[in-house]
Amino acid sequence: MDGTPTWEARRERHKVKRDVATRHLKQDQYWTQIYLAKKQQKQTKRLSLINNPNVLLHTFTEVVPVSKEMADLKKRAEQVAAAYKNNNNKNLVLYSKQSGNGKTLLASCILAEVGKSPASAKTCMFVSTTQIKNLVNKKFDNTARQDDLYGVGDELDEFERNAGKVDLLVLDDLGTESSLKNGGVSSANQTISEKLFNIAEKREFKPTIITTNYTGDELKKIYNNKIIDRLMPTNAAQVLNFEDVPSYRKN
Ligand SMILES: Nc1ncnc2c1ncn2[C@@H]1O[C@H](COP(=O)(O)OP(=O)(O)O)[C@@H](O)[C@H]1O
Ligand SMILES: [Mg+2]
Repeated sequence: MDGTPTWEARRERHKVKRDVATRHLKQDQYWTQIYLAKKQQKQTKRLSLINNPNVLLHTFTEVVPVSKEMADLKKRAEQVAAAYKNNNNKNLVLYSKQSGNGKTLLASCILAEVGKSPASAKTCMFVSTTQIKNLVNKKFDNTARQDDLYGVGDELDEFERNAGKVDLLVLDDLGTESSLKNGGVSSANQTISEKLFNIAEKREFKPTIITTNYTGDELKKIYNNKIIDRLMPTNAAQVLNFEDVPSYRKN
């Protein structure tokens, strides 16, 4: 023994070093993924127009398959989320006449799933349509008072710009911001229609998810045909019908 390590010992030491390096690399990659996912989630929160930020935190695991219909819809929503991560650009509608069936919940789950995937690196935005109305009202209130006019106009423009640009947009409760009178459908505020028109134009090749209590025909009466033609999917498989799902709140 002259103190020189044997070939076997050197090989063994090299292997240990390599294993440690590999482990560190894996740990780095793991933390990088988490960091990127958090960054994406923050960006979604910054872009979104929502009443309650919790809407961005839903996951498919919390969706209870209350009936066979809901179990199927959940499965379909998971497939759609996977397709969006793979650059599918088909629009999606979640429809039921009533509320409380889980349309908003499943739309949020899809958005959250796509928005936390660093591999797909998609920008996402969740918009409650009542919030668009708030922005519009605020703008006109302020125009009347000549107060902070530019600030609020900017907010509305920024909304339009972002909604046109993001990879995935959810328009939650489309149509509800227009008032429904005597059981009939009244047309939407002119400014909201203009904004939606511009957004729909810009999103020709990008997916938009709509949740709504209105049929396509009713939506066409609320907005103009062109907006709805652009935003509604052409394929029946992209329409998720919640009519037969029992209201979750009553369970
Ligand atoms: N299948 C379900 N599993 C768990 N929670 C549900 C389910 N369906 C609805 N909910 C909850 O019930 C409430 C109403 O659902 P929501 O998605 O807002 O209905 P909709 O948009 O159809 O009016 C929400 O708090 C939602 O999280
Ligand atoms: Mg809803």
